[in-house]
Amino acid sequence: MSRGRRIAYIVAALIAAIIIVAPPLYTRLFPLPTRYLSDEEHFKYGSVGVEPVAGVPFEVWRALPGVCMSAEKKALGYRQFGFQWEAGHAAPIGMPIETAIVPRVGVNCALCHVGRVTGPGGATRLLVGAPNATLDLQAYLRFLFSCASGAQYRAGPILDEIARQGGDLNLAQRLFYRLVIIPQTKAAILRQQRDFAFTDAQPDWGPGRVDGFNPAKIQVLKRPYDGTLDVVDMPPLWALGRRAGGAWHWDGLQTSLHEVFLNSGIGNGASARTIDLPSLDRMERWTTSLPPTPYPFAIDHALAGAGHAVFQRACADCHAPGGGKTGQVIPIGWVRTDRNRLDSWTPDALEAFRAIDDYPWRYTHFRKTGGYVAAPLDGIWARAPYLHNGSVPTLSALLSPAERRPVEFGRGSAAYDTARVGFASDRGKRFDTRLPGNGNGGHPYGADLPSTDKAALIEYLKTL
Ligand code: HEC
Ligand code: HEC
Repeated sequence: MSRGRRIAYIVAALIAAIIIVAPPLYTRLFPLPTRYLSDEEHFKYGSVGVEPVAGVPFEVWRALPGVCMSAEKKALGYRQFGFQWEAGHAAPIGMPIETAIVPRVGVNCALCHVGRVTGPGGATRLLVGAPNATLDLQAYLRFLFSCASGAQYRAGPILDEIARQGGDLNLAQRLFYRLVIIPQTKAAILRQQRDFAFTDAQPDWGPGRVDGFNPAKIQVLKRPYDGTLDVVDMPPLWALGRRAGGAWHWDGLQTSLHEVFLNSGIGNGASARTIDLPSLDRMERWTTSLPPTPYPFAIDHALAGAGHAVFQRACADCHAPGGGKTGQVIPIGWVRTDRNRLDSWTPDALEAFRAIDDYPWRYTHFRKTGGYVAAPLDGIWARAPYLHNGSVPTLSALLSPAERRPVEFGRGSAAYDTARVGFASDRGKRFDTRLPGNGNGGHPYGADLPSTDKAALIEYLKTL
């Protein structure tokens, strides 16, 4: 065989070997995301494309409580932050685990849009699509920040903890984690810490609340912090189909649900390259018809019937399906609730979102409004605390004049106050309505109803 031929044979053999070996190797390094048969499982655990770009390596993530928490906190681990966590799962609802070189834990919509309640008899019930009123996301992030910037964050103790937790790394993998994955994870968490440093100057979020758009202004639009306050309750993702043609987000800054889904995927950390559009489409279709979870405690149906008439008189124009103002933006001068969230959506942010041209789509439905949306009240019992900033603990307090609403109350409990209708507000993290952005004024509707009408109206609201 001539030398040239021999080389040609070797090259051909190499190419054949690569063709045979590469696909299995590639799918090991970058496997396809897990697909779930049921739409609900997909919503709770399916990837929206966050893990390859913004996922935390799972083994390191799982080890951090053991490395950085005090003995008494270690026992609860991540559970102390109020995640919804089902038995048999290595991570909470809303934190998919997918492999990109190593297994990584990311974020999906269910992290903030699945809640829980302690039902009758003390059994915990998941509320799929409800706001996650127990999750203290800021406390969780602060734990990661302090752990990654602290002296305990070293490869040795982290690898020991991974082994203690049953993480099965061979010698080569341990070396790879020590030299690459563990330092990279630290750098990524510290970058997040810098991006979230602006929140240290604001009142704490507390459970069930997150900063809506400021992180995106900083991380996606690359703007410096503009000094606005944007900390809000999470809205529900159920019965969205009933709101077709309406406005989305607390101030109605979007009129296209599809664009809200795309933007939420990016906001969760997916990039234009990794965002999983079929997965998001599946979630959008499913949530459009997802029914709210019915009130799990007793309802006096005769009283609720009387309350329906009160609702028709006092509330239906703004909140009943088909009402003249339902789904519309009510001017801030009428509703007079805290205006920080409204002002935080600045003309600059609006222009910058409209100008984004490096995604496979353009945003054409962002806008600036002058108030807050009067949304339908589907599953309203599960949406406490009330108003966009979560400043009113119960329906009974919302139907009181602003000066008689609680000035301070507790947030984050899954226990339910069936008398006042809302999550138990005598426990949990203190929420102070006197702090900036936390104002509990406005929405005067129903405050002057006779007390018998109020009781009937509240009974009716339980049925929605
Ligand atoms: C970190 C918590 C968090 C995660 C994760 C999250 N959301 Fe949200 N979502 C919010 C908050 C807070 C708002 C309200 C923001 C505002 O208007 O100021 C919101 C608003 C929405 C709305 C508008 C609802 C309405 O009533 O107008 C939709 C739709 C939505 N999110 C979908 C999604 C989707 C889809 C995902 C996943 C790709 C997702 N969200 C992930 C917290 C979250
Ligand atoms: C003029 C229109 C209007 C009327 C009338 C009205 N509301 Fe509202 N409602 C709003 C607006 C706007 C918001 C959002 C305010 C905010 O979040 O800052 C709201 C918010 C709410 C919320 C909180 C929703 C949540 O997810 O936190 C409840 C509960 C509610 N209204 C109940 C009622 C009841 C009960 C009545 C009748 C007594 C009523 N509203 C009458 C406009 C109205």
